[in-house]
Amino acid sequence: MTQQSPETIHALAYGAYPARCLQVAAEIGVADLIDDEPVPVDKLAAARGAAPGALDRVLRLLTSFGVFEERDGGYAHTDASRVLRDDHPMTARPLLRLMGLPLHLDSISLLRHTVMTGEPAIEVLQAGGLWGYLREQPDDAEIFNHAMTSKAAADGPAVVDAYDFTPFGMIADIGGGRGHLLRGILDAVPDAEGVLFDQPGVIEALGFPDHPRLALRAGDFFDEVPAADAYVLMHVLHNWDDERAARILATVRRSAAPGATLLVIENVLPDERPAPAALTMDVIMLALTRGRERTEGELSALLDAAGFRFTGMTETSGTMRIAEARAV
Ligand SMILES: C[S@@+](CC[C@H](N)C(=O)[O-])C[C@H]1O[C@@H](n2cnc3c(N)ncnc32)[C@H](O)[C@@H]1O
Repeated sequence: MTQQSPETIHALAYGAYPARCLQVAAEIGVADLIDDEPVPVDKLAAARGAAPGALDRVLRLLTSFGVFEERDGGYAHTDASRVLRDDHPMTARPLLRLMGLPLHLDSISLLRHTVMTGEPAIEVLQAGGLWGYLREQPDDAEIFNHAMTSKAAADGPAVVDAYDFTPFGMIADIGGGRGHLLRGILDAVPDAEGVLFDQPGVIEALGFPDHPRLALRAGDFFDEVPAADAYVLMHVLHNWDDERAARILATVRRSAAPGATLLVIENVLPDERPAPAALTMDVIMLALTRGRERTEGELSALLDAAGFRFTGMTETSGTMRIAEARAV
C-alpha cells in the first residue's frame, strides 16, 4: 500500500463536510461581506445572524483549501473565494446554492438506492424526477435556472472563443435556459440571429427578448424545435438516457436541412482517462436524471443513428468540449 492510499480515502470519506461548508458560506452570503480588507468573524456573524464560533470554524476549514485567508484578525479574499461573491462575473454562488438544496443533498443520501436499483435517487423524492421536482418547487427552480445561467456565464466565453460561429445566419439554442450562451454567440457574430428554445416556464420567466437579434420560443424538444443553420445543445443530452437523447436528436434532425450543423456542448468524456470532475458530473446525472456523460464513441454512435455525421471535437479552455456534427 502506498502512502497515498489512506490520504485519498480520508479525503474522500470526509469530503462531504468541506463541500457543505462551502455551500453554507454561499447560502448565507459571507463572501459579499468581504471586499479588499479582512473582516473579523464577529462582524461577519453579526451581519448574517450566525454563531461566531461555529462560523469561524467553518471558514477556517475553507481557508485550508485556499478559499478565504485569515489575516490581520479577520477573513480576507483569495482568488477562489472572490468567485463566491454575487457580483463576480463568473459567480459560483448560485451553483453552490443549488448543490445545497434538498434536491441534491437528499439524492446523495439516496445514492445507495440508485446503486442497488439503477433508478435515479431523485425519483424516490419526486415523481417525474428532476424536471417534475423543478415544476413543483418554483423557488428551487429559480435557483436551478440561476445556477445554469452562472455556469453558462463561466463556460460560455470559452465556447464562444473556441468555435467559429460566423458561418451561421440562424442559430438555435435548444434547451438553452436563459440564453446566456446564445447572447454571447450573437455578440460575437454581428450578422447572426438567434432563437432561444426552452420549456414554457423558463421562456415565460424571461418575458421578452433582451437582445435585438434574439427570438424566444417555448416548446418541448421531444415534439418540435425551430429551424436553424446551427443547433446548439449545451448540457442537454447528458440529462437523458439513450432512448430519449435519440428522440431529442431526431426532433432536431426533422427540423434541420441536410448540411445543417449540430453542436453538442458538454463534458464529453475522452475515451481514455476522463477527469474526476467529468466523472462526478456523470454520477450526478445517475442520481438526478436517467442521463449520463458519454464518451466520444458513444456520442458519435447516437449522432450517427439520428442522421448526423460526427465531424470533429473542439476543445475549450473550460470544462466543456464541443462535438460538431452535420445533418446528412
Ligand atoms: C441542464 S439545463 C442546460 C441549460 C443551458 N443549455 C446551459 O447549458 O446552461 C437543461 C435545459 O433543458 C431544458 N429542458 C428540459 N426538458 C425540456 C423539454 N422537454 N423541452 C425543452 N427544453 C427542455 C430545461 O428547462 C433546461 O433549461
